[in-house]
Amino acid sequence: MGELVERGSCDFVKDYAAVLPMEIISSLLGVPDEDRVAVRERVDISLTREPGNPVPPPAAMQAMADTSRYFTDLIEEKRRRPKEDLISQLLAAEIEDDDGGKRKLTQQELLGFAGLVAGGGNETVTKLLGSAIVLFSRNPEAHAEMVNDPFRIPDGVEEALRYWPPSHIQGRSATRDVELHGCVIPKGSRVLLLTAAACRDEREFEDPDRFDMDREIPIQLALGHGVHKCLGSYLARLEASVAFEEFFERIPNYEVDEENCKRVHMTNVAGYASVPIRW
Ligand code: HEM
Repeated sequence: MGELVERGSCDFVKDYAAVLPMEIISSLLGVPDEDRVAVRERVDISLTREPGNPVPPPAAMQAMADTSRYFTDLIEEKRRRPKEDLISQLLAAEIEDDDGGKRKLTQQELLGFAGLVAGGGNETVTKLLGSAIVLFSRNPEAHAEMVNDPFRIPDGVEEALRYWPPSHIQGRSATRDVELHGCVIPKGSRVLLLTAAACRDEREFEDPDRFDMDREIPIQLALGHGVHKCLGSYLARLEASVAFEEFFERIPNYEVDEENCKRVHMTNVAGYASVPIRW
């Protein structure tokens, strides 16, 4: 980070926010150093959509196919030469099946999980960091508190998650009739949960549009809820807290060039593609 400090300006997303999650998720999964940037770039492209068109563009389809091919080969490599990483551990693991017997994970399950962790782990934390650096600059009191007392950083991260969640919507299928607020969601319906809107629900949060790192957040919906709650929720919080601890220690004061910030246009992830800053 020394080289970055000397520069006096950077694109916070490209030069910082995208790098840390990629390194962490890649070492967790056992992605070799030389492949990490390409894996992240392919995930980026696979999630990108054209405005007004929900159908993945050809480049996104290609990136999905390439990601799948890459992890198929990586799983084969780990099968031949297991190491200490998560993919090797999952190859060795046995799970209980529906009949109470033991079985190994299928190739499809391994592939799906590796892709999910690579996507879920890279994209969301990058978006959280990019959004948080803008929010902290818009809220100078909160920023000063965190700089003066790094123990406050996790509170800033938690409020940034609520205020600008990196993932806005979650999909569900109703397994039974459910009545909510006088309305019945019939069994079998596909339901889109607007979790980002719920994070600003005035019935749950007082003055929800105010950034307030002292507020209580009883359920952090930005990380999901129930059985599918984010598997990486503690890792994500830790990564973001450490990222800002390290950053503020070296660059306590910075300015965001908001006019030149750019946003991503991706499926189910929201945030910045670029946040130019100087100090
Ligand atoms: C700020 C960062 C993150 C955010 C905002 C986030 C958000 C979410 C949300 C909202 C869900 C629930 C999806 C649903 O209900 O359908 C979820 C699930 C998941 N997340 Fe994260 N995530 C983050 C970081 C991570 C990291 C670092 C990992 C990797 C270890 C990860 C892995 C997963 C996985 C595997 C699931 C699926 C869990 C399941 O279906 O049982 N996430 N995440």
